[in-house]
Amino acid sequence: MKTEIPETFHAWVVREASDGSFSRKLESCRMHDLPEGDVLIRVEYSSVNYKDVLSMSGNKGVTRQYPHTPGIDAAGVVVESKTSAFSSGTGVAVTGYDLGMNTHGGLGQFIRVPADWVVPLPAGLTARDAMVFGTAGFTAALSVRALRHGGATPEQGDVLVTGASGGVGCLAVFLLAKSGFRVVASSGKAEAHDMLSALGAAEIVARDAVLADRKRPLLKTRWAHVIDTVGGDFLESALRATAPNGVVTSCGMVASAELNTNVFPFILRGICLQGIDSATTRMTRRLETWEHLAAAASSDALAHLVTEVTLDEIETVIQSMGEGKSIGRTLVRIP
Ligand SMILES: NC(=O)c1ccc[n+]([C@@H]2O[C@H](COP(=O)([O-])OP(=O)(O)OC[C@H]3O[C@@H](n4cnc5c(N)ncnc54)[C@H](OP(=O)(O)O)[C@@H]3O)[C@@H](O)[C@H]2O)c1
Repeated sequence: MKTEIPETFHAWVVREASDGSFSRKLESCRMHDLPEGDVLIRVEYSSVNYKDVLSMSGNKGVTRQYPHTPGIDAAGVVVESKTSAFSSGTGVAVTGYDLGMNTHGGLGQFIRVPADWVVPLPAGLTARDAMVFGTAGFTAALSVRALRHGGATPEQGDVLVTGASGGVGCLAVFLLAKSGFRVVASSGKAEAHDMLSALGAAEIVARDAVLADRKRPLLKTRWAHVIDTVGGDFLESALRATAPNGVVTSCGMVASAELNTNVFPFILRGICLQGIDSATTRMTRRLETWEHLAAAASSDALAHLVTEVTLDEIETVIQSMGEGKSIGRTLVRIP
């Protein structure tokens, strides 16, 4: 199927002014300004992730050079391909690698990327389904995989998920509950309780209820395993309250990028602290993980966590996520 390729298209562009301030707006971009790449994709859906908020706000740790189009997630249709691995009309998704960081990202109508970043959508998974998960769901799935890989089974006890109302958190709750784990969701938002229960959380605790007394090197064990999405004191407390041989995963730093801890969880309880980096996951594991997500995509429970907006409606989403107020996943529909 041949799609006509326009000379211009719409995308969010963040610009840096000479005084160091940043501004962003939806602009008309030229197709020939897209970076070189093997595969040109018409984006049908993107989503909003915390990293997009950082890139949208001029965070140079995420995006070194502006002007820039953020968007670490994109799903849509191949319209032009320099490689036989993809043909026009194929449904695909791109998450991670450098997309939306220093490469023109998914918050626009087109992306052009290297072929080895592109995942063909598993059978039955639409572009929209793929973006319900996006980088957040992919990261949640990698975190659950890390627990399993470390020997976690549902009989061992409660699994704590921190930042549970966020994108990674709520999908971790969903995937764990679906696999039979008893999930304790920690959240700072009373208004997210119904969603978390619908996703399968057995218990919901206040955000601060998982923070622990700083003086004691080890705490009474509360969790068999932990998926931490916020870092800082939350991760540190989780390490000290996890039962022997538990796995604690770390993927995020919404609370803090600092980790002050001691060696006792590791040398007296055999705790495994497993880092998760979704962006650099190699392709074999990436394809395997997308197959697992595709198998979970038909669940009615997912409807509870999705808000859908259009490209010109994302400003308020960026602001509320930046303030830690967003709930669930926000899909961006791109006409
Ligand atoms: N390593 C990777 O590959 C990878 C991939 C994806 C995301 N991440 C990282 O994972 C983190 C979560 O991403 P996301 O997309 O799920 O973000 P998100 O949707 O904004 O969710 C973050 C959640 O953290 C909680 N939170 C917010 N501010 C907090 C604070 N000051 N202290 C404690 N908790 C706070 C909130 O949940 P409650 O109100 O329910 O507590 C919030 O909903 C981010 O740091 C992101 O960069 C990493």
